[in-house]
Amino acid sequence: MAESKTRRIGILTAGGDCPGLNAAIRGVGKAAKGEYGIEVLGIFDGFAGLIEKRWRELGWDDLSGLLTQGGTMLRTSRVKPHKYEREDGEVVDMTGAAHENYRAMGLDCLVCLGGGGTQRNALALVEAGCNVLTLPKTIDNDIAKTDVCFGFDTAVTIGTEAIDRLHSTADSHRRIMVLELMGNKTGWLALGAGVAGGADAIVIPEIPFDIEVVAESIRERDRRGKRFSIVAVAEGAEPRGGFVDDDRYRDAGEGHHVATRVARRLETLTELEARVTVLGYVQRGGSPTPTDRLLATKLGGAAAQLLAAGEYNVMVAARGEGWTAVPLEKVAGKRRTVPLDHEWITAARLIGTCFGDE
Ligand code: F6P
Repeated sequence: MAESKTRRIGILTAGGDCPGLNAAIRGVGKAAKGEYGIEVLGIFDGFAGLIEKRWRELGWDDLSGLLTQGGTMLRTSRVKPHKYEREDGEVVDMTGAAHENYRAMGLDCLVCLGGGGTQRNALALVEAGCNVLTLPKTIDNDIAKTDVCFGFDTAVTIGTEAIDRLHSTADSHRRIMVLELMGNKTGWLALGAGVAGGADAIVIPEIPFDIEVVAESIRERDRRGKRFSIVAVAEGAEPRGGFVDDDRYRDAGEGHHVATRVARRLETLTELEARVTVLGYVQRGGSPTPTDRLLATKLGGAAAQLLAAGEYNVMVAARGEGWTAVPLEKVAGKRRTVPLDHEWITAARLIGTCFGDE
């Protein structure tokens, strides 16, 4: 057994689930227990379990059979320690209680697997006196200071397959197909799936779109005899000037999905039929891709090495082929958006993909 400065850890998963969480739990847990003899406790339902005292030791059987599983065996929640809603509806700060429970468990470090919100909550627990280590997960891929987050590759794969499938039905009917992808306030997912799936137009929050520009690119395709167009829309995308004061979008009818609003406007402007697909939670479900399994396993193993070295209060970030430890204060509260000169955007523009801006 290798030497370790850490004797006991608690692991939790917080925020929206994503494929790769179980692979990461397995990675941290097996390396921590097997290589360094660290005791591993699982805390259930994210920060809610830390506050409400739901934890137990994880044995070898718990950590087995997880690699291919979607979701998270520790379950998750969007509960924030500093804004905890009690049963009577009152919202209270439970950071102190979370710290007390951390001490009661006898932890040397709390390992939090989560997205942007989790990084912020983790830093608040550091400030309250806990040692914390985080791993970056999210299909949105929007966490600062890491090249990539686990969950993203699987979601891009699912989005790409959806676009592949839309092609044949779009062509058969001579339709515009508008596909809405998740991503919160960033366009990584719509961009990745859009470019990989060969979408004809891609609209993302980082590039406010002009619907006339998108419509003209579709009319142009129609003039060239292309019988269909595929538009990949990020859920956070907005037209130039925003939706709020634009009645043409507000009156789009059915629901509030940006894809629906875009589709209705495109129908009017192009006089072509448009259909909407909102991919939704399918993007977060099921087994992780090999790329996500590799990433989650690598970062999980790296986390165990940092724990053994007694290096806390950092996020284990993916960097090139390897990994690096980034101080939590450099990550928390920051969002990584798509740079406008990103190579995927440049490549897509070169082959004629419309981003609604020019
Ligand atoms: O952060 C992951 C994500 O799936 C976003 O893409 C999406 O906006 C959000 O979570 C949905 O959240 P919820 O699971 O709370 O509906």
